[in-house]
Amino acid sequence: MEYERIILPYNSLEPVIDDKTLNLHYNGHYKNYTDKLNMLLKENNYDYRYSPEELAININIFTFKNNSDLSFNLGGYLNHSLYFDHLTNNKVLVPKGLAKKINKCFGSFDDFKKEFIDMALELKESGWTYLVLDKNNKLRIINLPNWDSPYFYEFIPIMSIDMWEHAYYIKYNLDRKKYLENIFNIIDFNKVYRNLLNAKR
Ligand SMILES: [Fe+2]
Repeated sequence: MEYERIILPYNSLEPVIDDKTLNLHYNGHYKNYTDKLNMLLKENNYDYRYSPEELAININIFTFKNNSDLSFNLGGYLNHSLYFDHLTNNKVLVPKGLAKKINKCFGSFDDFKKEFIDMALELKESGWTYLVLDKNNKLRIINLPNWDSPYFYEFIPIMSIDMWEHAYYIKYNLDRKKYLENIFNIIDFNKVYRNLLNAKR
């Protein structure tokens, strides 16, 4: 079965993300990645035996034609699926289990937030900032440019923030710091914790 966009668990993220940006992002950019990914997979007679995440982890066992184009759209699809899924218009407190893990790896939640925002501001081009779980079950904050997916580097993404201009430019213009500070208020940390528990190996 074709890979599908996640269904948004909210109608609006105003005032943090304006409706125009959300609509263009979800129905434009994310849809384009999803459609193009499915088109390229069909051209390769792919049988959809893997989940999209498993496909990314195992991408090297395939000899797809247009492989870089396929990776681009698979990364774009996965990144946006994670991003849209863990945003919310309800205030969510950080679950205790997640807070404990964050405190262990970063000192405190405030330290984690600062480190995440500082890392995101270091991106000089389009890209993403992630909280990932590494092979040693340690949380790390990383940047990847453009379409890249942490799955391609043996990391499992737990949380992702889109730092392409299309994610924030209409409302925030050049003020990426404000976008980052505000978006922390609409992260569904219950889902981040769920992602962490699912990622543990
Ligand atoms: Fe995006």
